[in-house]
Amino acid sequence: MNLSKVRIEIGLPAPLRLLHVSDTHLALADGRDGERKQALAARRSAAFGKEGDCLRYFSEAVAYARNCCDLMICTGDLIDFVSAKNLDTAKEMLSGTDYFFAAGNHEFSKYVGEAVEDEAYKLDSLPLVQRYIGNDLRFASRLVGGVNLVAVDNSYYLFRPEELEAFRREVERGYPILLLLHNPLHTDALYREMMVNRRNECAYLVGTPEELLEPYPEERRSQQRADGPTLAFIDYLKQQTLVKAVLTGHLHFNFDSVLYGDVVQYTAGGNFRGDVREYEIV
Ligand SMILES: [Fe+2]
Repeated sequence: MNLSKVRIEIGLPAPLRLLHVSDTHLALADGRDGERKQALAARRSAAFGKEGDCLRYFSEAVAYARNCCDLMICTGDLIDFVSAKNLDTAKEMLSGTDYFFAAGNHEFSKYVGEAVEDEAYKLDSLPLVQRYIGNDLRFASRLVGGVNLVAVDNSYYLFRPEELEAFRREVERGYPILLLLHNPLHTDALYREMMVNRRNECAYLVGTPEELLEPYPEERRSQQRADGPTLAFIDYLKQQTLVKAVLTGHLHFNFDSVLYGDVVQYTAGGNFRGDVREYEIV
């Protein structure tokens, strides 16, 4: 396991330790899931390293969180696709561990890349997956050690008005906030990292300005174009001094960039290759 340690100073009376795990991409299926899903599992497992790596890295992370941290936080894509075997495995590995969860796009994926991922597609899987995860996958908050952890589903590159309203209510409670999202929000540094340094066809970010979407393939441009409610959420967020950091995943590499003011967006690398981040919040 590759542990990257980060210290965040927000003036807490006692330190809080969080283990950030993202993008484990468990890709398992068995007889209950049928042949198509078992073939998908074989293909996807091969894409995410040697067989068993995801499971091993995730169990190492869970053990580390239990022994050394106050709480494990997951920012999505724990499973690569919805299957009985993936959901059972996730639940079993999380049982007995205190965790807080933000949903990723793969939590709702039935066959990976089979369809345009929109609200209707998400709703096909959400009720089932929700039964296996300990907090609301759309929006959840939890007060730990004087910090309000807020998890918002932005896994399809959009925020809904419902989640902005819920987020406003969390801000009104007055506690310092750590915001958990699966998809990182646009920063120029992260966009440059994805497009220039890593030569991706698109940056996979939320709220990227229209002119910067220009070089994307058309299907990626429409997937990653922010709508009105999404821009409203980001505008509101960027005025909040109670938000102390934004914790994200999705891109599979560690990256830190300033989102606004002195608020840093921390992106965690892929747990499928052993990456985890530990925050000491003081
Ligand atoms: Fe993702």
